[in-house]
Amino acid sequence: MHKDVEEILFSLDQIVARCDEIGKQISKDYEGKTPVIIGLLKGCVPFMAELIKHIDCDIQIDFFDVSSYDGVNQTGNIRILKDIETDVHGRDIIICEDIVDTGLTIKRVMELLGCRGATSVEVVTLFDKKEGRTVSNIEPKYIGFDVPKKFVVGFGLDYNEVYRNLPYVGVLKRTVYEK
Ligand code: IMP
Repeated sequence: MHKDVEEILFSLDQIVARCDEIGKQISKDYEGKTPVIIGLLKGCVPFMAELIKHIDCDIQIDFFDVSSYDGVNQTGNIRILKDIETDVHGRDIIICEDIVDTGLTIKRVMELLGCRGATSVEVVTLFDKKEGRTVSNIEPKYIGFDVPKKFVVGFGLDYNEVYRNLPYVGVLKRTVYEK
C-alpha cells in the first residue's frame, strides 16, 4: 500500500467485477443502439478502459477535459480544456466519470450535451460520494460503489495529479493535504 494511503476501500478485483456487472447492464439497456461514451479526463481513464471491455453492444468513445477542482476544494467553476469531437445531435450519450461529489461537473456537462441536441444523456460513475451532493436531481444511472465523504485516490483519482496509477482505491491521509 502507498505510504500516503490510510486505508484501501476497493481492490482491483472488486473494481473489475463491478465493471463487468455495469457493462452487462449497459449492454442490455442499449441493445441495438450505438451510444457514445464520453469520458471526463483524466480520472475516467482506468475506469473507462476497464468498463468498455465488458460492454457487448456497439459503442463510440470520446473525451472531454473539464476542470472544476483546485486541490481538494470545489471552486464552483468549470473550464472546458478539451472539447469532444463527436456531433452529439440525436445521439445517446453516457458520460463516464470517476467520482460524482457535489454533482456540479456532471450537471454542467449534461446541460451542455442537452444544448447540443443529444437524444439522451446518462451518467456512469465508478464512485458516488452522495453526502457531498450540493446539486439536486443529479443521480447517476450506473454507479460502481458509494464512498464516504473522504478524499479518495487511485484507479484514476488524483490529488494534485498524483496517485492516479494506484491499482486500488483508498483514502488519502489527511496529513498529505493539511500540510
Ligand atoms: P463534482 O463536480 O463535485 O461532482 O466533482 C467531480 C470531480 O471532482 C471528479 O471528477 C474528481 O475529479 C473530483 N473529486 C471529487 N471527489 C474526489 C476525491 O475524493 N478524490 C479525487 N477527486 C475527487
